[in-house]
Amino acid sequence: MLITNASQLLTLAGGPQRGPDLGRLGIIENGAALVRAGRIAAVGTTPELRYAFPDEPGYDAGGMVVMPGFVDPHTHTVFAGDRAFEFEMRLQGKSYLEIMAAGGGIISTVQATRAASLETLKAETRARLRRMLRNGTTTAEVKTGYGLETQAELLQMQAILELDAEGPMELAPTFLGAHAVPARYKDDPAGYTTLVCKEMLPEVLAWWQQRAPGKPLPFVDVFCETGAFDLAQTRRILQTARNLGFPLKVHADEFDNLGGAGLAVELGAASADHLVKTSPAEIEALGKSDTVAVALPCTPFGLAEPHYTPAQAILAAGGVLAIASDLNPGTAWCENMQFALALACRYLRLTPAQAIAAATINAAAAIGRAEQIGSLEPGKQADLLILSVSDHRQLGYRFGGNLVARVMKNGEFIS
Ligand code: NIG
Ligand code: FE
Repeated sequence: MLITNASQLLTLAGGPQRGPDLGRLGIIENGAALVRAGRIAAVGTTPELRYAFPDEPGYDAGGMVVMPGFVDPHTHTVFAGDRAFEFEMRLQGKSYLEIMAAGGGIISTVQATRAASLETLKAETRARLRRMLRNGTTTAEVKTGYGLETQAELLQMQAILELDAEGPMELAPTFLGAHAVPARYKDDPAGYTTLVCKEMLPEVLAWWQQRAPGKPLPFVDVFCETGAFDLAQTRRILQTARNLGFPLKVHADEFDNLGGAGLAVELGAASADHLVKTSPAEIEALGKSDTVAVALPCTPFGLAEPHYTPAQAILAAGGVLAIASDLNPGTAWCENMQFALALACRYLRLTPAQAIAAATINAAAAIGRAEQIGSLEPGKQADLLILSVSDHRQLGYRFGGNLVARVMKNGEFIS
């Protein structure tokens, strides 16, 4: 199929965009893209490709923007229930960490998730994935982390694998057994850390080799935070995971600066995420590393907190900056990357072009898939969006709605 007449075809060609280089959209005016066997076969101007492929069936983009699908590199999409009551408590003055310390927060979603069957979990998650797709997300990272015991965590992992196989949304799985200290270990976080290292990680590895042989291992992530896992515990878990061959991610500096970002760089993690309270020295270290800095602007927005990721400092240091939704029932139930872009423009001071690159090619790098997705280049998956607007700057500028008219995944229009 030849997609023609794109006012702007945003190719995002040339790989992940570091530091001040962020925002290279690779715009082709009056652009066209040739899609064959689920992949991009060629991009160019409409006259060029029409001339080269005269018999190819056409699809007229009608003078609208054509761009890569969004990649959402940080979500907690598999969960049951909701926490609307906590939202109300926060509005009445309780903080997120206070609610968590009182046994609510993540732990309350753990109770709901443990009580749900695989079918219920999949049904609730599938509905969210459908809405994300319609809003333009064609690949999402999804974490476990609402089980906090081996079998419950593996059930969440199974839901992720089955939903990925079902499609059309492509999922990149992450094991987050160290998302919170479960009630049973309330006074013994070191004991739970040992359980994660000695029992859970080896079991996840064995389970994976049996259930998904040949597939790349999932990421292992830790919530390094006051009230969750301290730096030493995070280090133990991530070192153990790395020794077993897992690629790494870290939740770092969402509320307090514990050193998780520095650790992510030291251990060669694929990404360090949140990064609100990150120290200047760690920002420098991130800037010199290949660890992608993933900003989650929906989270401070969702918590009505004033502090956002210091994106300008990360860019000045040369970092690879991505943005994600952080979709989760506690801090940020956002199924729309366009809204994350709108926040990134305002609170991270990104231009629409920078926000688009952060949500496509750099987001793909954050999940180790920059060779397959995140840009429209020959050989890559044909995961693309046709917007209902003709200028890419409408993304970010307009918010609260959906500017995505059509979504293509692996060469098929799915919405
Ligand atoms: O990324 N920070 C830890 N995890 C989520 C919150 C999860 C929850 O509250 O259920 C986050 O913000
Ligand atoms: Fe998170």
